[in-house]
Order: sequence, then structure tokens, then C-alpha cells
Amino acid sequence: MHEQVRVGLLGCGNVGAALVRLVHEHADVIETRAGVPIEIARVAVRDLSKDRGLPLPANRFTDDAVGVVGDPDVDVVVEVIGGVEPARALIVEALMAGKPVITANKELLAVHGRELFETAEGAGVDLLFEASVGGGIPLMRPLRESLAGDRIRRVMGIVNGTTNYILTRMTDDGDTFADALADAQLLGFAEPDPTADVEGYDAAAKVAIIASIAFGARVVASDVYREGITDITADDIAAARDLGYVVKLLAIAEEVDGEVAVRVHPTMVPERHPLAAVRDSFNAVFIEGDAVGELMFYGRGAGGAPTASAVLGDLVDAAKNLVEGRKGATIGTLAAKPIRDIGDVSSQFYLHAEVADRPGVLAAMAPRFAEHGVSIRSMQQQGIGEEARLVFVTHRAREADVRATVLALRDVDAVHRVGAVLRVIGDEG
Ligand SMILES: NC(=O)c1ccc[n+]([C@@H]2O[C@H](COP(=O)([O-])OP(=O)(O)OC[C@H]3O[C@@H](n4cnc5c(N)ncnc54)[C@H](OP(=O)(O)O)[C@@H]3O)[C@@H](O)[C@H]2O)c1
Repeated sequence: MHEQVRVGLLGCGNVGAALVRLVHEHADVIETRAGVPIEIARVAVRDLSKDRGLPLPANRFTDDAVGVVGDPDVDVVVEVIGGVEPARALIVEALMAGKPVITANKELLAVHGRELFETAEGAGVDLLFEASVGGGIPLMRPLRESLAGDRIRRVMGIVNGTTNYILTRMTDDGDTFADALADAQLLGFAEPDPTADVEGYDAAAKVAIIASIAFGARVVASDVYREGITDITADDIAAARDLGYVVKLLAIAEEVDGEVAVRVHPTMVPERHPLAAVRDSFNAVFIEGDAVGELMFYGRGAGGAPTASAVLGDLVDAAKNLVEGRKGATIGTLAAKPIRDIGDVSSQFYLHAEVADRPGVLAAMAPRFAEHGVSIRSMQQQGIGEEARLVFVTHRAREADVRATVLALRDVDAVHRVGAVLRVIGDEG
């Protein structure tokens, strides 16, 4: 019988330190909700000499993470170290010892999720990971529990605050990508090495987790088709605006005919769509379910306190299960559903071509679309000196067919350049 739940905290950086503060500040609320007090019993860090200014005695800190996991005085393990190792080995060790684990580690779950979920299932203990996607935004629990009886069709998210901040600056202030990135770095929204964010790796890890939970499928980060925002220009954004769209980096997971399609790429979102209104470093996830229709979750997708809030929610859940002697909540077996090749994924597309401003050019281009089964929904012509720019939006078409069309257009004499090709979330979905 537990009179309190003692936590072994692995890592005490942005999220870990915020968690220690929250547990201290909200102790009474937490005790009421969990049924027992929750105490941070041991904290593993790398550097013991750092002054962390936290309301915990110095003797709770150690640099021996393995010792924390194995400590008989630790009932629950919270992993907020990040990265794959040693986090993976520590989590497996804890689960095998029958200790519930809470983690915020998207990088780890996006690669080793299946192994970890199966270990938790086998041990009958909780492995909870609300904070791994969308920081403070409740998403995993709604998908796992509230929507457990519905059939999720599609999940589309703005799940990376850095890129959303950069795109917002480019949209609102006309900044170039380089200027907007420099601004984000100055404000601490982007890392000195921004690759993981701007090339879409972070979003890809998150959408792999989303797809796994939404569709009960084994999806790993390498299954995700990924394009970042480094090639987006102020011109693309202005052209999108002229057509009534905003450019966002979307992470999209959908189930089509028993296959799972997962991708991250810049997308033109209609101005009236709720995702278009998600600005700065905010995140949002838009879910389409058979019965529930459309839902959107919006909030702070990162930051120590919002992320710690999600970790703490999981911690209260795990503590309640421990106290009441309930078997841990698991996500069940993940099926090996086929992953749809990006070439077979359909959406609407935007593309533009710079062409010689003379009669007959459009007549030469139109058959190239038709040959590949790509149907044009709208076309606009803008004069740019000696050249004209033709802006096309297609009806839904397969990626492979649009790529073939672009190659064919480049062979047309009067076509000087085929510019940005962007997917469009449109009236046709
Ligand atoms: N920050 C966010 O906004 C956010 C949002 C969502 C999810 N997450 C996830 O939360 C996790 C933690 O992120 P964070 O921003 O808090 O990272 P962080 O600030 O870099 O903190 C990492 C902590 O882990 C400790 N550590 C590193 N290696 C260790 C080892 N071998 N043994 C023991 N401790 C070790 C570090 O110790 P020292 O302090 O001694 O260096 C530090 O306290 C990551 O998985 C991240 O993806 C973060």
C-alpha cells in the first residue's frame, strides 16, 4: 500500500527543473488528485556541480541514473534526459522492474516506441508520454482514450513552434527565411543548429508518434516523408496570400484504404481554416474523425513549464494507478499496417511557371497536365516584364503524377522555370 509515490527523475534541464517546481508549488492539488503525496525522491543529472536553484535538498541529486532506476525507494520513473541512449536502456530497466515510466522523449519513441510499448505491456505497467508531442497540449490522452471508439481519418498538426514562428515572421513582416531564422535564434525560439526544426525532423518524429497512436500502427520516424521550410521564399508566401492561403509546415497522418500516409511538408492552408490562425510559436493539432467530425487542440507546444504540466498529468495518472493497484494503461499491440509511398499520396497542388509572354504558351502546357491525369482547378497569369508567371492550383492528384507533370513542363520551350510546388489543403481536403 502506497502512502506516497516517490519519483526518480532522470534529467533536470528545462523540463525536469520545471517539473520539480510544479510538484513543489502544486503539492496540495496533486495530493488531492493522486490520492497520495508525490515526492521527487531522487534526481539524476550529468553535472552535479550546477546550481539549479530548486526547492530540493542537494543530497537528492546524483549522477548515477542507473542507481536511481534501481533504487527500491523509487516507485515511478520520469525520463526527461532526451536522446536515444541512455534513455532507452533506463526506461526498459525501469519497466522490467515493474516501475511505471513517464517520458517526454519524442526522438526515442519515434524510433523505439514499439519495443517500449511492448515491454510496458508485458510488465503490466504504465508507459505514458503525453509531453512527447505538442508539449503542454493534451493530445495523446484524447487520442488514446476520448476518441478510442471513433475512427480517426486524418490528423494535421503544426507541431513545431520554431518553424511556425519563422513562417509567421515571413508572412506578417515579409522577412526572408534567413532573417526570420536569425530573429528566432535571437529570441531563443531556434537552436544555434536549427536543422532538426527547419528541415522537419522534429515534426517527423512527432507525426510518427501521432500516427502510431491514432491508427494503432507501427510507424517510425523513417516512414515519414519529410520536407522542411528552408526553400520557402517570401515570394511563395506572397503568392499564397494572393490566392487566399497561408503557408504552414504541416505534419499530416492519414489512413487511406488500410494504408497509413505520414508526411511533413510546407502546405498552403486556406485563410479560413483554423490551422491558418495558429501563429508565432504556438502549436495546434486538427483531428478529423468519423463520428466526432473536426476537433482542434491549440497551445504551447514547448517550453519547460507547459511540457512539465503534461508530464505531471501523466505522473498523477500513474500514481493513481499505483495507489489503486490498477494494471497500467497500455496502448495495446501496434499493427504492421503498410505505409503508403509518397508518390501515391494525393492532394491538391500549387505550382507556378515563369514563361515567355507570348500567345500559345498555355496551349503548349495544358496537354502536359492532361497526359499525367492532373486536372487544373484554377490558373492565374501575372505579368513580370518579358515573362509571365502562370500560377496553377490543381484538383486532387497523386504526387507521382504531379512530379511527372513538372518534369514534362520543363521540356516545353516557352517555359523558363517551374517554381515552388506546394501541397494545398483545399475544399477537396
Ligand atoms: N524543452 C522543451 O520545450 C520540450 C518540449 C517537449 C518535449 N521535450 C523533451 O523533454 C526532454 C528533455 O528536454 P529538456 O529541454 O529538458 O532537455 P535539457 O534541458 O537538455 O535537459 C536534459 C537533462 O538531462 C540531464 N542528462 C543528460 N545526460 C544524462 C545522463 N546520462 N544521466 C543523467 N542525466 C543526464 C542533463 O543534466 P545536466 O543538467 O547536468 O546537463 C539535463 O539536466 C527531451 O526528450 C525533449 O525532447 C522538451
